[in-house]
Amino acid sequence: MDPVLNPYAPGAGRLPAALVGRDSQLDRWRIALDRIEAGRTAQPLVLYGLRGVGKTVLLTRFFSIARDRNWIVAQVEAGTGKSLREALGEALHAPLADLARPSAGKRLLKGLKTALSFKASYDTGGTWTFGLDLTESAGGGGADTGMFETDLHKLALDLSEAAEEEGVGLAILIDEAQDLTPEELAAVCSVAHIAGQRGWACTFALAGLPSLPRVLAEAKSYAERLFVFERIEQLDQTLARKALVKPAELESARWDDDAVTLIVQETSGYPYFLQQFGQETWNEAIGPELTLSDARVGAARGRAALDSGFFRARWDRATRAEQRYLRAMADDGDTGSASGDVAARLGRSVNSFGPVRANLIAKGLIFAPEHGVVAFTVPGMADFIQRQPDP
Ligand SMILES: Nc1ncnc2c1ncn2[C@@H]1O[C@H](COP(=O)(O)OP(=O)(O)OP(=O)(O)O)[C@@H](O)[C@H]1O
Ligand SMILES: [Mg+2]
Repeated sequence: MDPVLNPYAPGAGRLPAALVGRDSQLDRWRIALDRIEAGRTAQPLVLYGLRGVGKTVLLTRFFSIARDRNWIVAQVEAGTGKSLREALGEALHAPLADLARPSAGKRLLKGLKTALSFKASYDTGGTWTFGLDLTESAGGGGADTGMFETDLHKLALDLSEAAEEEGVGLAILIDEAQDLTPEELAAVCSVAHIAGQRGWACTFALAGLPSLPRVLAEAKSYAERLFVFERIEQLDQTLARKALVKPAELESARWDDDAVTLIVQETSGYPYFLQQFGQETWNEAIGPELTLSDARVGAARGRAALDSGFFRARWDRATRAEQRYLRAMADDGDTGSASGDVAARLGRSVNSFGPVRANLIAKGLIFAPEHGVVAFTVPGMADFIQRQPDP
């Protein structure tokens, strides 16, 4: 069928035609915004899960919901080489510029001035003015001490008050939050904590790998009570079927039942895999029905696409020594391995693998779900490794 009309969206953060199975998290987010608009507080959210399960698209939906309600909302990604200070400063520019106007209330003017000082703290050549002369506005500024926690605190407080004056709130969304520095993590926890205690019109949502809850708890021991943790997982059979069938329906095409069953089975309901295999099947089909034989070809092409892209890119990122370590982990499948067992398989002490393990974590190939355990960040990696020839 026409690839131009293909409704499937494999990739990173690409919005699917049908975002299925996330109603409870979306409800939670809407309730959080409602509560804050009603002058109450809401617990900040943490979305965590493996690569490709749909954390980014959910966070982006959170962003749209808040933006559609005219909130001041910033969505940033950690680990891109920019500090959180800089990423937040930049992301806040557009929503603040939209609000800036000469007739703005006192608190909004104060918030804008504080945002300018926050910006000046990392960019002395900055030229933002929001088109306003803020020199006369009372208070504001001062988010440029250079201490991140202090500056974030000032920024969040003044922008929450500005948002409240506008009848909305402030939402800060951080993707790949496991890649924040310890100082940034501690600052986010501390500011979210104070915001909750003092009733600021402000909330946070963080997304990241399954190590994120542990990383947060290490940054601040109260993190486990501060946040609501939502594990984002693969879709169950019914939802996975819907993720395939609905996008086709929107284009007036339909799936044969057995074809759906095959793709759901082949992908184990992982959202990214569903999109990839759905896309391949669509391109293979003559239509208007996507048949079982289309699905067989689609599944083979989908597997090949994952092998040569998704999995291969990760495998090639590892050195020979790291690949040997990954191969020893693959014996345990996708569920994770005790580092002691992996070391024993390779005939050396656990400690001697410390640097290899640390490099693999830094490269995003594995994570430590708990102390002394390592697991792959992508589903199906163990199988892929076992299909690779031993050098
Ligand atoms: N609920 C969903 N229903 C259907 N498709 C989805 C859903 N969530 C995500 N997808 C699709 O899955 C793919 C991966 O989504 P996304 O990039 O959000 O995952 P992620 O968890 O952020 O992955 P990573 O950890 O690699 O950043 C995208 O192609 C997206 O369209
Ligand atoms: Mg993502």
